[in-house]
Amino acid sequence: MSVSLQPSMFLTKDTRLTLHDGNAIPVMGLGTYASAEVPKSDGTEATKLAIDLGYRHIDCAYIYGNEVQIGEAIRSKIADGTVKREEIFYTGKLWCSFFSPNLVRQGLEASLKALQLDYLDLFIMHWPFSVKPSDAHSNQPLDFDDVDFCLTWEALEGCKDAGLVKSIGVSNFNRRQLERLLSKPGLKYKPVCNQVEYHVYLNQSKLHEYCKCHNIVLVAYSVLGTARDNTWVDPNSPVLLEDPVLRSVAAKYNRSPAEVAMRFILQKGAVVLAKSFNPTRLKQNLGVFEFELKPEDMEMLDGLNRNLRYAQFTVMKQHPEYPFHDEY
Ligand SMILES: NC(=O)c1ccc[n+]([C@@H]2O[C@H](COP(=O)([O-])OP(=O)(O)OC[C@H]3O[C@@H](n4cnc5c(N)ncnc54)[C@H](OP(=O)(O)O)[C@@H]3O)[C@@H](O)[C@H]2O)c1
Repeated sequence: MSVSLQPSMFLTKDTRLTLHDGNAIPVMGLGTYASAEVPKSDGTEATKLAIDLGYRHIDCAYIYGNEVQIGEAIRSKIADGTVKREEIFYTGKLWCSFFSPNLVRQGLEASLKALQLDYLDLFIMHWPFSVKPSDAHSNQPLDFDDVDFCLTWEALEGCKDAGLVKSIGVSNFNRRQLERLLSKPGLKYKPVCNQVEYHVYLNQSKLHEYCKCHNIVLVAYSVLGTARDNTWVDPNSPVLLEDPVLRSVAAKYNRSPAEVAMRFILQKGAVVLAKSFNPTRLKQNLGVFEFELKPEDMEMLDGLNRNLRYAQFTVMKQHPEYPFHDEY
């Protein structure tokens, strides 16, 4: 079932939103980012189980260093007949060290090779800023580069024309950066989505409104408040799933705080990504399709906004394209 973007609608795990290029994105995606100490094989097992449970949208990235394992899980579920390749919606992300137009195809092919897939459903620029080409998985500090993302975008358009990706989009772009891309002379394809941090503490209402006006789907990450990895999340930041208001709404519906946190985003009309490698929680998170939040509860959850960003990527703060200096 594929539908156009409506803030409040009857939703199931099979609901897809129609992208402006005609492709369709499942409204619920499995996040696959895990910190370095989590065995990569956990991602394989979780992705296989997720597909068995009915998840059809898998979000991953070159920089997560687990495309081999996630690809293996997808291919094994195709091989055993659980799904066909065309039923899976796989999102990959171009890492910032591949932004030079002559490196974009190489960045994509590195992902395709690791995944052992012929194409990606969605390929997005991971951030609006570039870093110098280097081994992205080394521990070297990130060296700023100044590649214009509009030029990178032209190379992404080429990847779509070559049939290597079905749709192209961006991630972590602010309004000004989206505007610059949309007004680029000779733009061939508009981005289908902007993947951004979006949850009850970071209500992206202005950016979401802007994206709706341009038919760009907002894909929400860290909806559950992240895994609180202290290498990039401030340990003093509030724990989203422990929020008393969120918990009281969850109790009212006899649902977990995680289900309410995700349902809130879905009813806002965005696509939700949620990471879990735990079998019980993977199953429980699909409960998000078994209830609907009433308008007064949506309003109460809206009131939790405090413009709190867990993922600040502070090492990039001095880069001219760092996106989070602007209001939105
Ligand atoms: N574009 C970007 O720059 C960007 C940035 C960040 C994230 N992302 C994407 O978005 C995905 C999700 O974001 P995220 O990984 O930051 O975190 P998240 O989905 O907000 O939270 C993940 C954490 O929540 C836990 N969890 C899952 N279900 C739960 C439940 N029902 N109750 C309690 N805890 C639960 C998980 O633990 P268990 O695994 O133990 O269940 C994990 O610790 C990522 O994996 C990645 O694919 C993209």
